[in-house]
Amino acid sequence: MDDEIAHKSDRMSVSRRNFLRTIGWGSIVAFLSGSLLAVVRYLFPKVSYEPSPSFKVQTPEDYEIGTVVVDKPHKVFIVREENIIYALIAVCTHLGCTPRWFPDEGIFKCPCHGSRFYKNGINFYGPAPRPLDRAFITLAPDGRILIDTSKKFSSDGRSYGEGYLGDWKDPRSYLEV
Ligand code: FES
Repeated sequence: MDDEIAHKSDRMSVSRRNFLRTIGWGSIVAFLSGSLLAVVRYLFPKVSYEPSPSFKVQTPEDYEIGTVVVDKPHKVFIVREENIIYALIAVCTHLGCTPRWFPDEGIFKCPCHGSRFYKNGINFYGPAPRPLDRAFITLAPDGRILIDTSKKFSSDGRSYGEGYLGDWKDPRSYLEV
């Protein structure tokens, strides 16, 4: 009887030891994995591949009068009028969705809440409170157009007289051609 009890107690002690050993190794493996992950993150940080807000496009002559060129990677619409070129920033002035250009209708439509904008960026329907913003635009020394979307020019769009232009009157918001 005593032998049996001693045997049982030995078995319990062995399984307790195995259990503790497993927990110990598990903790070590978890610690090493965490450390390894931290080292990998340090060596290969997350890099943002967002395009630069300042970029060059083609020369003014490359844009046909009356056209709108959609530059998806840079999120701008390049509009060529008879005497000027400007870049509308493709961010809806309501809540920031990306409007789309519909060449057949000659307007921009926002897919989120239905705002609509004329080809020149002025809002005429839906909840957008003002026209699309224009980006800084100039001619680079190599003859190509330089655009910088980090510099925005807004129009208040409250009236269609002289007043509506707002910052659009700033010569940095368009390029005379
Ligand atoms: S975000 Fe464009 S209409 Fe609301």
